[in-house]
Amino acid sequence: MTNRLQGKRVAVIGAGSVGPGWGNGKAAAALFAREGAQVLCVDRNPDAARETAQIITDEGGTAFAFAGDMTDPDSARAMAQAAQDHMGGLDVLHFNIGISTPGGIETTAFTDWQKVFAVNLDAAFHCTQAALPLLADGGGAIVYISSLAGESNGPYRYVGYEASKAALQRLSKSVAIEYAARGVRANCILPGMIDTPHAASFIGPDVDAQELARARAAKVPMKRQGTAWDVAEAALFLASDAAGFITGVDLRVDGGMGTQFGSPA
Ligand SMILES: NC(=O)c1ccc[n+]([C@@H]2O[C@H](COP(=O)([O-])OP(=O)(O)OC[C@H]3O[C@@H](n4cnc5c(N)ncnc54)[C@H](O)[C@@H]3O)[C@@H](O)[C@H]2O)c1
Repeated sequence: MTNRLQGKRVAVIGAGSVGPGWGNGKAAAALFAREGAQVLCVDRNPDAARETAQIITDEGGTAFAFAGDMTDPDSARAMAQAAQDHMGGLDVLHFNIGISTPGGIETTAFTDWQKVFAVNLDAAFHCTQAALPLLADGGGAIVYISSLAGESNGPYRYVGYEASKAALQRLSKSVAIEYAARGVRANCILPGMIDTPHAASFIGPDVDAQELARARAAKVPMKRQGTAWDVAEAALFLASDAAGFITGVDLRVDGGMGTQFGSPA
């Protein structure tokens, strides 16, 4: 523990995990707390929010669970109020939630497109709008979890996911510039192939887990998948004062996949 977030108050949106093990949001919440932050664990699944908060308190950290669906602007405002009530304010908003439905432009139903945009983009808008008055009080940081799919086509066809993540990256830059002079930084992380319960869930139940892991690792120049901790460490840096002059960037956490010309499809 190096106390890189000592004294910071953080809201992690999507702090639970869709399956057993460490998802990106759960790992980020735990790492932020290990580095000294108080953490509001926000999740639409109350059990998932409570589980992560409990892990943190069991480790000796400080955490609060908040249940709410962040696609609802009232819930996003209630989330910011909970940060105020429990922690006395907010220094970091970590926006982690993101969903996908498979399909290209011809095969994606409009209802699926809307569902994906509601979580990946609308919820980011609501959470950002609700959090900014608290963050702008004393400077602060926003970290958005996007995806390599926001900037390039990978092995899966999910057009709504790709378009919504690209828009999230653009939202991050707009916030970065609008709030730069007020000391609020906004940055995006673009994970590549990350071995999480979420990744297994969106690819489908019929796929053999070990075969899936091997196939995903093979697509990465570093020949391994990332872990939720790789993503959390990058988020920790962007959230911390060590990144105090960094705003509006997209940081790939992908073992080189996005850099490799013609990433394998
Ligand atoms: N795993 C990968 O390979 C990979 C790659 C690129 C990007 N990502 C991104 O990482 C993020 C997800 O990471 P994770 O491992 O924490 O995923 P996860 O699916 O386990 O999600 C974490 C939590 O978010 C909650 N959630 C979902 N919608 C919500 C809503 N509307 N309101 C409140 N809570 C909600 C879920 O209940 C879940 O507990 C996504 O943004 C995803 O696009 C993952």
